[in-house]
Amino acid sequence: MSDYDLSIRGGTVVTASDTFRADVGISGGRIVAVADRVEGAAREIDASGLLVMPGGIDSHVHLAQPSSGAQMADGFLTGTRGAIAGGTTTVIPFAMQPRGESLRAVVQDYHKKAEGQAFADYGFHLIITDPTPSVLGQELPALVGDGYTSFKVFMTYADMVLNDRELLEVFECARKCRALVMVHAEGYDAIKFMTERLEQAGKTAPYYHGVSRPEIVEREAAHRAISHAELIDVPLMIVHVSGREAMEQIRWAQNRGMKVYAETCPQYVALTADDMKGLNMDDSGGKYVCSPPPRDHESQEAIWQGLQQGVFKTFSSDHCPFMDTSEGKRNPQARTSFKWVPNGIPGVETRMQVLWGLGVDKGRIGMNEFVALTSTNHAKMYGLYPKKGSIAAGFDADIVLWDPNKKETIRQELMHGACDYTPYEGLEVRGWPVMTILRGKPVCEEGKILGAPGDGGFLARAISPYASK
Ligand code: URP
Ligand code: ZN
Ligand code: ZN
Repeated sequence: MSDYDLSIRGGTVVTASDTFRADVGISGGRIVAVADRVEGAAREIDASGLLVMPGGIDSHVHLAQPSSGAQMADGFLTGTRGAIAGGTTTVIPFAMQPRGESLRAVVQDYHKKAEGQAFADYGFHLIITDPTPSVLGQELPALVGDGYTSFKVFMTYADMVLNDRELLEVFECARKCRALVMVHAEGYDAIKFMTERLEQAGKTAPYYHGVSRPEIVEREAAHRAISHAELIDVPLMIVHVSGREAMEQIRWAQNRGMKVYAETCPQYVALTADDMKGLNMDDSGGKYVCSPPPRDHESQEAIWQGLQQGVFKTFSSDHCPFMDTSEGKRNPQARTSFKWVPNGIPGVETRMQVLWGLGVDKGRIGMNEFVALTSTNHAKMYGLYPKKGSIAAGFDADIVLWDPNKKETIRQELMHGACDYTPYEGLEVRGWPVMTILRGKPVCEEGKILGAPGDGGFLARAISPYASK
């Protein structure tokens, strides 16, 4: 009888706080020993020269989410296959409430889509588009009790936008039931106005998507959301922050002692508005269309500062993949105006490589910050800690073995999801996952998938310690 099912030997363990040489012993899917020497395992993995880090947690992912005019490229099977290939072992996608539908029914529907399909563990955030008295009075509090402890609201998109009164009511509900509110901060009316003016001027190419929603539109919405949160006295997570202007509002709130948290994403450190310049739909111009849009180099630098200074708690992909075909980005309506191009880009598989390559390898952030931003802080923020997010006895054995010296060029042929492009095509990075382990089982090695659909299970999440007290 072996003492351990698996040991990882000779590597350097990196957590959000420490870096040290240790072996890791795993039994029953959990880490049971982190020690100088772990011997007597049924299987040993030699990790010499490698970093042993907690598996990535991507707390902002869209899978199998209905979208008007286009079908999302990834469901749970292909999206989580990409996740594990990129070193991510847990994802938190959204269960989106179409207006008029019961939240409970929506959640059941997403469970059906995910059941038996996932290669990675998963929880669900809710998206509230229709905050009726029964949703806020009964359904939402009950679902929070069942482990859906965070939800997102939108300040834009015709089919999802909440007005100020609704935002206040939803924030009040979150405060009472101690859910964590995530906000998409872009102002609906300003975008609509800008879009109409651009279309009148014949400026309909994908580049004008970014022009229709400049930083000021995000800044205004971020400030409004922060003000509403202050009025209700509820914490807030502002997601996919794209640039300096919105970030300054967040920093202002944080400096006043408010519980305002923030997330940023690969597209805001690796892409700029110029990537869309001169492209039309025939040149695949739609493939960079996401909201908020990538900004300029100065804003990228501001985002790096925010990552260095702790303004951002999490670095998520906002994986929201659409094919670059007539079924997705190039659908017939999208060819008439940027406003019909489905918003969102793929990124769950490349999130960690982008942050390591542009962040750690370039000396902008340290390895411990990398682990905090890609794993530990997500677990803490969304009620998965101390089950997920670290390398220590008692945690799930979700581990990525990382080669900090492996040079790779990000390209579509390396990807494992269903989308037909990566917006990071051609980006050269140093630092790559060589093995991903989910609850003690190696599920991907050197790009080869070893796991199976159904390896991943549902995670009911605890109340976030960052939500209201
Ligand atoms: O363009 C984006 N980000 N689409 C995904 C939906 C969202 O707002 O997160
Ligand atoms: Zn959003
Ligand atoms: Zn999103």
